[in-house]
Amino acid sequence: MSLKDKINPETLPQHIAIIMDGNGRWAKQHGADRIFGHENGVKSVRDTVEAAAEVGVKFLTLYAFSTENWNRPQEEVIALMQLLVHTINAETKTLNKNSIRLQAIGDLKSLPVDCYNELQEAIDNTKNNTRMTLVLALSYSSRWEITNAVKQIAEKIENKTLSVAEINENTINSHLCTANIPDPELMIRTSGENRISNFLLWQLAYTELYFTEKLWPDFRKEDLYLAILNYQTRERRFGKTSEQIV
Ligand code: IPE
Ligand code: IPE
Ligand code: MG
Repeated sequence: MSLKDKINPETLPQHIAIIMDGNGRWAKQHGADRIFGHENGVKSVRDTVEAAAEVGVKFLTLYAFSTENWNRPQEEVIALMQLLVHTINAETKTLNKNSIRLQAIGDLKSLPVDCYNELQEAIDNTKNNTRMTLVLALSYSSRWEITNAVKQIAEKIENKTLSVAEINENTINSHLCTANIPDPELMIRTSGENRISNFLLWQLAYTELYFTEKLWPDFRKEDLYLAILNYQTRERRFGKTSEQIV
């Protein structure tokens, strides 16, 4: 039985989020510069998107560039942005062929204008696809997102379209970039780093976390299946006792 066949469709996570990490170290291992690692990471993105759609995952969120990543050497930032424009442009056809809708979360206005336009075009060109939603986190950080949400809520209080008494969890949810996206059931981080790095802090409240030593450019379909299978062995209690779950 293949790994894929071992996956129980009944308990499949509908949303998987991935921190794609380790491109730089992968490049170093291959005696190349960091950009080479990012370029090779694109193959892993392709493989993972395809695998997720094939098993029936509904939302796949990929952390592609964080707010903090702007602080990297300028040539790396420029190369990453160019790679992004190029990849989005080259992959739109495949997304449509596989009925995958593209969305993006983050401070998109801070992206270089060609990158922003390419992204918006791809989002628009894929908006009617229904099989899976691919969410790119770009110039994203959770603290930026939450700060933004607080500002929007405060504005509504100020202009009296919302009262303090009305604020609940849904108010916060609906002001995040992920307003229309369910919380991920599974979060994967590659490269052996055991941290969240400012990713979906609110949304990960009850997400199962899976850390793998694999560097992102080595991540393949089988690695996604392994993560899903591991997720399916977990008991999600949401604060209840084990006895209450069965
Ligand atoms: C992840 O790989 C890609 C981005 C953050 C854009 P890294 O570039 O962080 O690779 P390492 O962690 O330095 O190996
Ligand atoms: C997190 O990886 C951001 C992305 C994968 C886009 P980093 O490599 O930037 O995170 P840290 O600095 O190791 O925490
Ligand atoms: Mg890293």
